[in-house]
Amino acid sequence: MENIIQKIQKLKRKRQAVILAHNYQRPEVQDIADFVGDSLGLSIQAASTDAKVIVFCGVHFMAETAKIFSPEKTVLLPDPDAGCPMADMITGEQLRELKARHPGAKVLCYVNTSAEVKAECDLCCTSANAVTMVREVLKGAKEIIFAPDQYLAAYVAEQTGRSFITWHGFCPTHAKILPEDVEREKALHPNAVFIAHPECRPAVTHLADKVASTEGMCRYVQETPATEIIVGTEVGIIHRMKKENPEKVFYPVSELAVCPNMKRTTLEKVLWSLEDNVHEVNPPAEIARRAYASIERMLNYRP
Ligand code: 13P
Ligand code: SF4
Repeated sequence: MENIIQKIQKLKRKRQAVILAHNYQRPEVQDIADFVGDSLGLSIQAASTDAKVIVFCGVHFMAETAKIFSPEKTVLLPDPDAGCPMADMITGEQLRELKARHPGAKVLCYVNTSAEVKAECDLCCTSANAVTMVREVLKGAKEIIFAPDQYLAAYVAEQTGRSFITWHGFCPTHAKILPEDVEREKALHPNAVFIAHPECRPAVTHLADKVASTEGMCRYVQETPATEIIVGTEVGIIHRMKKENPEKVFYPVSELAVCPNMKRTTLEKVLWSLEDNVHEVNPPAEIARRAYASIERMLNYRP
């Protein structure tokens, strides 16, 4: 009798598929993936793979971004309801209204947005390249709209000395992390370093030894001489950190930092996805065409 992992591997070969998983996915999903990474790394993998089918173990905007860049590939999201509440906090219509109020502004969108919103923006970024993009690509811009994450915008503003026209979006998972959680964990583990994702509140990032995208965090924990690390992001990332650094100890800063949407993908759903060719992600062609340019520029800025 074949077990579920063997079935997935067999079907994957038959369908010439690749499995991409975000750093927040369940441990068993990360373990069967061909590549585990952050939003930027996954987009780069999706764009460069020769596979015919991409099974995207992440959330909807990630699969949609992959499809826009590689329209000839079949992109599957194992659970069609795996969305991102932050991405849903701004619509294309709302961004058009904001643009109308600031006609001269350049528009920078976080990748955590729908294709419809990306179609309205000049540039797209992830948390890995937002600072570089503002410093290099947008250095001549007089006014910049940066949407939808108010906390990422605040972090990039601090790093670059620029101010932005912002939106009131935020990540509900990262917003659960509070400065008192950091203080408590630091008191419990005085030798530990604290790392945070820039989607955290400024009161939390200000307490961090390192602020980075999920891939940047994984790199940092490998490079730091510290052996104890307090992790200020979604708890799923600790699986990969432990695997890559078995001699180090990781403490989640808050057990509440769980993204329910990232946890929707299970091994069963990955198997069904390959078996039944579901759930195909296919944004409307005209929107995809308009969103393409901003994504292309995003892929060129790698940390
Ligand atoms: P990264 O691009 O850093 O992986 O972040 C994606 C995300 O959704 C964080 O909440
Ligand atoms: Fe969206 Fe936050 Fe989940 Fe990332 S962790 S997918 S930003 S809700």
